Amino acid sequence: MALVPISDLLKKAEAGGYAVGAFNCNNMEIVQAIIGAAEAEKAPVIMQASQGAIKYAGLDYITGMAKIAAESASVPVALHIDHGTSFEQVMQCIRSGFSSVMIDGSKLPLEQNIELTNRVVAVAKAVGVSVEAELGKIGGTEDDIHVDERDALFTNPDEAKEFVERTGVDALAVAIGTAHGQYKGIPELDFPRLERIRSLVNIPIVLHGSSGVPDDAIEKAIKLGVRKVNIDTNIREAFVKACRDVLNKDEKEIDPRKVLGPAREAATAIIREKIRLFGSSGKA
Ligand code: G3H
Ligand code: 13P
Ligand code: ZN
Repeated sequence: MALVPISDLLKKAEAGGYAVGAFNCNNMEIVQAIIGAAEAEKAPVIMQASQGAIKYAGLDYITGMAKIAAESASVPVALHIDHGTSFEQVMQCIRSGFSSVMIDGSKLPLEQNIELTNRVVAVAKAVGVSVEAELGKIGGTEDDIHVDERDALFTNPDEAKEFVERTGVDALAVAIGTAHGQYKGIPELDFPRLERIRSLVNIPIVLHGSSGVPDDAIEKAIKLGVRKVNIDTNIREAFVKACRDVLNKDEKEIDPRKVLGPAREAATAIIREKIRLFGSSGKA
């Protein structure tokens, strides 16, 4: 199948009350793990490339691998840029064949975020590519957020309403207590805020930094309108642990396939688990 925009997948997820997994890919083994897991679960899936992935593998390799993976798959697959940094970069991705983009203007003041997002939406919509934007500061697990800072950093529901009305984006990433990377403790999500956002904003909500969020919190977030759940760190952990296990067992191993093969299997297993948790198994 050809790559599909995320809006197609998320509309169905909205109707069915589940979420679609968005998994970060950095190399061939992870691309194969994402597709293998989605096929095994008969689930729609989003493959996404971060800034780091584009730097590491190169945009053309990412697009090439994703297109081959999608063409050989019987489930719908979207290729999405994760945290797009500029209008120019997002345009490059569209030109290269991405079916969906994220423009992350969350570090900008509201008006500038709206302006940048609108420029992307105008072009993307014209060529059938979906757009995800971000409002609020998601940050990393190293950025300790004190309780009194939460209000300033988390997504303001009224601003979210205004942002969506003035941009027409297909999906909105919100800051409600998750962070990128490994958590030090257990993250506490601001569900009343999510509920308020969802009551004002009638488009799919995206949860970033979802690795390490307890399963029951993910399930609750999906009940409250999250339709795209981003996972990267859990894949990295499974992949590298499998490599380490092989090398610890036999330090003389020199065949990369003997190291990366089990890593691909471990990544497939964790992605399958997440797909089931998000309720998208059997929804292709
Ligand atoms: O959005 C965060 C992702 O985990 C990407 O991180 O740029 O190091 O690949 P990365
Ligand atoms: P984690 O690495 O914390 O799973 O976050 C992934 C993400 O949000 C990618 O945009
Ligand atoms: Zn993210």
